[in-house]
Amino acid sequence: MRRKLLLGNWKMNKTPSEALEFCNAAKEMGLAKLARANKVDMGVCVPAVDLQVVKKSLKNSLIVGAENCHWLDHGAYTGEVSIPMLKELNIGWCLIGHSERREYDNETSEKCNLKIKALLANGLVPVYCCGESEATYDAGNTKSFVEEQIIAGFKDLSEEEAAKVVIAYEPIWAIGTGKNASEEIAEDICGFIRKVLKKLYGAKVANKIRILYGGSVKPASVKGYLSQKDIDGALVGGASLDVNSYKQLLTAIL
Ligand code: PGA
Repeated sequence: MRRKLLLGNWKMNKTPSEALEFCNAAKEMGLAKLARANKVDMGVCVPAVDLQVVKKSLKNSLIVGAENCHWLDHGAYTGEVSIPMLKELNIGWCLIGHSERREYDNETSEKCNLKIKALLANGLVPVYCCGESEATYDAGNTKSFVEEQIIAGFKDLSEEEAAKVVIAYEPIWAIGTGKNASEEIAEDICGFIRKVLKKLYGAKVANKIRILYGGSVKPASVKGYLSQKDIDGALVGGASLDVNSYKQLLTAIL
């Protein structure tokens, strides 16, 4: 059984004091307890400068993830965050290959693969994002595009390593646009991704890997996505910023 997973992605939002405000409210609401009692894994991926304050506040009650990392331990890479830095803060999760990073920071699937391998070697969970642009979708090339991203991102991973990766399918045309993919489209692609994983690793491993849908997920739509056979959770941007709406994402699926 794959446990449900709700992950927020704050992107470039919230200063450390705003982040702390969110954590205090989440604690007051007993959010982590509610998630645990209902066997839902829940957490937030936050800007690098918020990691310390958020982790200190939430401890291990909710998942705290980074939004990016470098694959090397240290070096002359101005502006980057290394995995040892994350480890020292006890951060256990990291988004990899979000479409915004692919678009604005030249993040390729090959770089994602290096990051995924480095995270796994250090015991962190990579959340590997994939998804097509509107032009690719309109041209009917979504499946071949996403398949390439999966194959390149998982290159050289053993079965044991692959089983630990979380995938987030996020069609770029649905991110932050309010134009979400229908449940049918999302399930079609998430089911297809599981088929690709089956080809690569066999059914046993493919059935262990959690696949999230992301792109304008709101409290009103989250349940529909999570009722789909191959969708195990959601990666949520905008609707994870306000703590009340973040809570509603959880209560909507209980
Ligand atoms: P959104 O963002 O929910 O605001 O569309 C999702 C994401 O980019 O992870």
